[in-house]
Amino acid sequence: MADTTENKMEKIVSLCKRRGFVFQGSEIYGGLRGTWDFGPLGVALNNNLKQEWWKFFVDSREDMYGLDASIIMNAQVWEASGHTGAGFCDPLVEDTTTGERYRADHLLKDIGVEAEGMTLAEIDAAIAEHKVTSPQGNQLSPARQFNLMFESHIGATAGAEGKVYLRPETAQGIFVNFKNVVDTMSPKLPFGIAQVGKAFRNEIAPREWLFRVREFEQMEIEYFVKEADWEAYFEKLRADIQAWHRHIGLSDENIREYDVPANDLAHYSKRTIDFEYNYPGKGFDELAGFAYRTDHDLRQHMEHSGVSMEYIEPDGTRYIPHVLEPSFGVGRAFTAVLCEAYTEDEMNGETRTFLRLPKHLAPYRVAVSPLLKNKPPLVEKARDVFTMLKAEFGNVAWDDNGNVGKRYRRQDEIGTPHCVVIDFDTLGEEAPEHTDTVTVRNRDTGEQERVSINDLVAYVR
Ligand code: GAP
Repeated sequence: MADTTENKMEKIVSLCKRRGFVFQGSEIYGGLRGTWDFGPLGVALNNNLKQEWWKFFVDSREDMYGLDASIIMNAQVWEASGHTGAGFCDPLVEDTTTGERYRADHLLKDIGVEAEGMTLAEIDAAIAEHKVTSPQGNQLSPARQFNLMFESHIGATAGAEGKVYLRPETAQGIFVNFKNVVDTMSPKLPFGIAQVGKAFRNEIAPREWLFRVREFEQMEIEYFVKEADWEAYFEKLRADIQAWHRHIGLSDENIREYDVPANDLAHYSKRTIDFEYNYPGKGFDELAGFAYRTDHDLRQHMEHSGVSMEYIEPDGTRYIPHVLEPSFGVGRAFTAVLCEAYTEDEMNGETRTFLRLPKHLAPYRVAVSPLLKNKPPLVEKARDVFTMLKAEFGNVAWDDNGNVGKRYRRQDEIGTPHCVVIDFDTLGEEAPEHTDTVTVRNRDTGEQERVSINDLVAYVR
C-alpha cells in the first residue's frame, strides 16, 4: 500500500540523503539555495531515467534526431526568443527590513489571490488591499519584474558586449540548429529534434527539494509539423507522453492533465497542457509541459539572424514549420518516480521501507552476496556470479555487510529488485541437487526461489 501521509515526502528526502541519492549542494559550506547534488545512487537513477527517455523517444522511432548544443549561446538567441523581455520575468517584492526577496504572486496565492496576468500596479494594489506582509511580518517594497536568466561574461570583455546567459531552457539550442539538422540529415516532415541537458533559472524562491531549483536538467523535443497538422500530432504526442509516464511506473490516477487557460500561456504558446503529478503532501503540480509553440521561435530566429528557417518540400513548396514541444524536467520525474515507488509494509512482524522501482530504473539491477563473508569458498563462488552478472548488466551491487536479513533490508530501501545469495547448497555441500543453484530473493514479495546459475541472467532480465 502506498503511504499517503503528509510526511511521506520528508521520509523520501531523508532516505535520499541517508542512502546516497541526493545531497544538498555545497553542503560543507552551509549549502547553496536551489542547488542539489546527486550521489552515487541518485546519479544511477537519473542516468537510467535519461537513457530510458532517449530509447523511448529517440532510438525506438524513425522521426527523431538527437542533439547536444552548448549551454552558453550567443546573447542574440535570447533577444530573438523573447527571454530577455517581460515574458521570462517573475514579479519580485523585497522585505523592506531584511532585504529578503519573495515572489509577489506566491505571497498573494498564499492568501487565495491569483496574480497570474496582473500588471505590477495591480499586484501593488492587491498587496495594499489585503495588507500582505513578508513572512516575517514586515512591509514589502513595490513589485518589480525580475528576469530569471543567469548572466555571465565571455572572456575578458566586461559590459554589454561580452554578456552571455546560461540557457534557461534547452529548447533554443534545438531551434538554432534546425537548419543544420535539415541540411545534414534531410529529414522528412514531421520530425523531431531531442536534447537532454542542463538549464538554469535564477528562481526567486527555490523550494520543495528538487521541485523548483536554480540548476536542473531538461529532456526536450521540438517536433516540427505543417501548420494544418498540428492538432493531429498534438494528440499523437500527448498519447506518447502518457505512455512514457506509464513506462517509468507512474500510475494513471497520480497523473492529471491541465489545459492551461489562454491568459496563463507562455509568451510563445497557443496551447499548453501541463502534465501534473500528485506529489505527497502537496497535491497535483507540474511534472512536464507540452506546448504548441506555433512558428514563433523559428520565425523569430529567421528575423533576427537573417538566415532562412524555411523547410523546402521535394516539390519546392517552402514554409516555416510549426512546433510541438514535449518538455520534461529530470528532477521532477526523479521525484515522481520515487514518490510512486516509496512503500512501507510489514514483513516478518517488522515495518520495512522499500522502493518499488521499475527494474529498468533501479540504481542496482541485482545485488550479490556470499551467505558468510569469512568462508573463502562461498566468497569465491559469489565473486564468480557477481562478475558474470556485472558483465551482463553493469549495475550490480556486491553486498557482504552484516547478516543476510540486514542486506535484504538495505537493498529493499534502495529499490534493488533481486538479491542473489550464494550458500553452502550452491557449493553442493548440503543437497547435491542444489549444486550450482543460488537463492534469489524478490524485493516486492520477499519470496525466495532457487535458480540455477546457468539461468540467472535470463531470470534477472
Ligand atoms: N522549453 C519549455 C520549457 O522550458 P517550462 O514549463 O518552463 O517549459 C519545462 O519547463 C519543464 O522543466 C517543467 O515542466 C519542469 O519539469 C522543468 N522545470 C522548469 N523549471 C524548473 C525549475 N526551476 N526547477 C526544476 N524543474 C524545472
